[in-house]
Amino acid sequence: QVTSLADYRPTDFVLERVDLTFELDPTETKVEARLIFHRREEANPNAPLVLDGDELVLSSVLFDQIEIDSERYTATPDSLTIRDLPASEPFEITITTLINPEANTQLMGLYRSNGIYCTQCEAEGFRRITYFPDRPDVLAVYTVNIIADKAANPLLLSNGNFLGGAGYGEGKHFAAWFDPHPKPSYLFALVAGDLGLVEDTFTTVSGREVALKIYVEHGKEPRATYAMDALKRSMTWDEETFGREYDLDIFMIVAVSDFNMGAMENKGLNIFNDKYVLADPETATDADYANIEAIIAHEYFHNWTGNRITCRDWFQLCLKEGLTVYRDHEFSADQRSRAVKRIGEVRHLRSEQFVEDSGPLAHPVRPSQYKEINNFYTTTVYEKGSEVTRMIASILGKDLFKQGMDLYFERHDGDAATVEDFVQCFADVSNRNLSQFSLWYHQAGTPHVTVSCDYDTNAQTFTVKLAQTIAATPGQPDKKPMHIPLSFALLANDGAMIAPASASGGEVSENLLHLTEAAQSFVFHGVPERPVLSLNRSFSAPVILNFTQSSDDLALIARYESDLFSRWQALTDLALPVLCEGVKQVRAAQPVLFNDALKRSLLAIVADDTLEPAFRAQALALPSEADIARELGGDIDPDAIYAARKAIIHDIAVAGLDIFKGLLAQMATDAAYTPDAKAAGQRALKNAALAYVVQAENDPLKAAEAYAKANNMTDLSHSLSILAHHFPGTTETKAALSDFESRFANNALVLDKWFSIQATIPGEDGLVRIKTLMQSPKFNAANPNRVRALIGSFAFANPTGFHRADGASYSVVTEEILAIDKRNPQLAARLLTSMRTWKLLEPQRAGKARAALTTIANANDLSNDVRDIIDRILTA
Ligand code: ARG
Ligand code: ZN
Repeated sequence: QVTSLADYRPTDFVLERVDLTFELDPTETKVEARLIFHRREEANPNAPLVLDGDELVLSSVLFDQIEIDSERYTATPDSLTIRDLPASEPFEITITTLINPEANTQLMGLYRSNGIYCTQCEAEGFRRITYFPDRPDVLAVYTVNIIADKAANPLLLSNGNFLGGAGYGEGKHFAAWFDPHPKPSYLFALVAGDLGLVEDTFTTVSGREVALKIYVEHGKEPRATYAMDALKRSMTWDEETFGREYDLDIFMIVAVSDFNMGAMENKGLNIFNDKYVLADPETATDADYANIEAIIAHEYFHNWTGNRITCRDWFQLCLKEGLTVYRDHEFSADQRSRAVKRIGEVRHLRSEQFVEDSGPLAHPVRPSQYKEINNFYTTTVYEKGSEVTRMIASILGKDLFKQGMDLYFERHDGDAATVEDFVQCFADVSNRNLSQFSLWYHQAGTPHVTVSCDYDTNAQTFTVKLAQTIAATPGQPDKKPMHIPLSFALLANDGAMIAPASASGGEVSENLLHLTEAAQSFVFHGVPERPVLSLNRSFSAPVILNFTQSSDDLALIARYESDLFSRWQALTDLALPVLCEGVKQVRAAQPVLFNDALKRSLLAIVADDTLEPAFRAQALALPSEADIARELGGDIDPDAIYAARKAIIHDIAVAGLDIFKGLLAQMATDAAYTPDAKAAGQRALKNAALAYVVQAENDPLKAAEAYAKANNMTDLSHSLSILAHHFPGTTETKAALSDFESRFANNALVLDKWFSIQATIPGEDGLVRIKTLMQSPKFNAANPNRVRALIGSFAFANPTGFHRADGASYSVVTEEILAIDKRNPQLAARLLTSMRTWKLLEPQRAGKARAALTTIANANDLSNDVRDIIDRILTA
């Protein structure tokens, strides 16, 4: 059952109002939905009302308060059809369903997590609560009444503003909420239970006071203060940057421990995976703090980009997600170091989205078909979607982009909009035709741009020849040329920027080349010396450059570029060929040859005190094993990649030992932990240096010392992972692992780090290790965070363990996926995507992977989620 964009049409009935009453019970919750509809003027006067359901049990249905004849309706678990309805006047349908929150292991709809009732309705979870037109273009105003046992559920929350509450007979109480903003059902939320509270207030730019409340498990309140701080900074930033003010009297966040994704932007009542709320220095790393800040911001920003303006249908998912990721990226860039943030974004984009875009799961940012919408919450929709928004901003420039956003908010507030509506706003303010640019939404695949340069001394011209291609992707064999904005600089031999007198060959602004044709030559005139071209600065376009620059040119960029991203990129471009060559040497059983240009450039950057420590730490994180695999493009042997990378890092570590030791001392501090970007950057550099020192000395001692004296989770978990990954099985490592386990025995989120550090220890023993850890009483296969920490880390982040040559890991993980699919299809489908690159493996491993995947494909009763992924992975 395929859903197609081309089939979109509005509903026959307009939903005017929704009144919901919940009588909460762990196993038998009664939901009464009073829905007021009228038939749309254009609609067929005989069309029945067809409502969505999913595993529902109907107890009764009333028409204008009167029980209706059984011939007038048909109810199944997944739909309710009502016939003979009025041609034009409004009518009321009252539906009562019975649901079992305790048995809801899918974590979609209303479920219980650790004794807390909570909901997840995006994308199609509301239909698991009641029969409903469960689609994002049906917007209505909701009133919600919640009745529950008072002692167990002192807290009764829903969207909007609190109307009132009171006692309700024997031990029960009720609360009523009203949300004045029309919304689609996917933004509905309900929470009930007993939780601790952190409170604050925010005064909006127009002077309205908003109550801010973050609910967490009792006793964890002190760990929610950073999230509160991030929330207030997000609210201020959205007012200052996008002119967006909050629009209710109260904004609530609830942290729950069982959650499929990161968080959810329900109107006025965001629900979070507690991993992205709870932090203190003892239990959270710098990366955790940064993630919390970003996700709190992301969900808050959805209030305008997602909630006030929502999506017409799920094909438009990037309209809210791509744009909101762009907004949260900009927020974090403003709060922290923009260049370091950008490097992190690009690393993530390449390692996840580029992989998706070149494999069997490739799909456009705005897809036109899906079998299971849950499988489209992807890095393509989110992160590439964000990059597309970023390109609009760079093509238009800051001011016109701001005008376009203002127009979008003004024109579409209250709408369920489309990507076309969004793009039109930027076309209107800029008078640019953005139809070619819009291919970014419709064509899947990462463009490859081939670059060659030519300098003519006599004519003083510099020619840049560009050619673009996009490989075929599933369902899209032929591609058209795209509009690719490439930021550039021309560098002189002394590193200074050269400003050419003029340029021809296409649209060129001060620092942007607009590549719009399949092949195009840009000529710069008045260039006094042979320049070095720095192209795609700050990663202005999400493309792959095929540009062979000499080591000297790359070294010059690495040394002088004013754009730090480009300096990092030049180092990466120096390193990748060396690493790939090393892999070949390992596979040919030859010694790995080292490269001085790489070493020199890298160590010069690392030793440069004028550069921010966080940037230097990024430079030290050489391309990952996955980066090397991507660069190789096929016939992947993960063991060879691991060995080559390790040898090259060892060589750099030995060459730079004095520098690394110096940094260890220089970056050490006795100051109390603070999570700000500057302090985090110093820790990052210190910890990167520690890893190099330990590898140069081939001695666990310094890592064990660092573990012993760590006073924060960043240092503690980093030293633990150095021990575990480089010295597995030693007494030092065993002691640290068991110390960590007992120290954090009561903190599941911290034990997740313990699970994932062990799950990513390289080598084929990884399989035995994760099998043992799955038996640990601390593991819980029903909790998504535990599953991701252990099985997810192994499958996604342990190439040598997961891809062991005998294929044994594939069998174990696929068996686990099948077991998880019975409880939680979304989680199972997500885990399965770890095998999306199986065809790129060397033949023996690829054969084993295919066999394991075939077992899944042949299993009975697969969920729609897993069926969709397995079909695409195996056939494409
Ligand atoms: N809208 C949420 C966010 O990105 C993600 C919810 C996804 N849920 C799902 N079941 N696929 O902020
Ligand atoms: Zn989102």
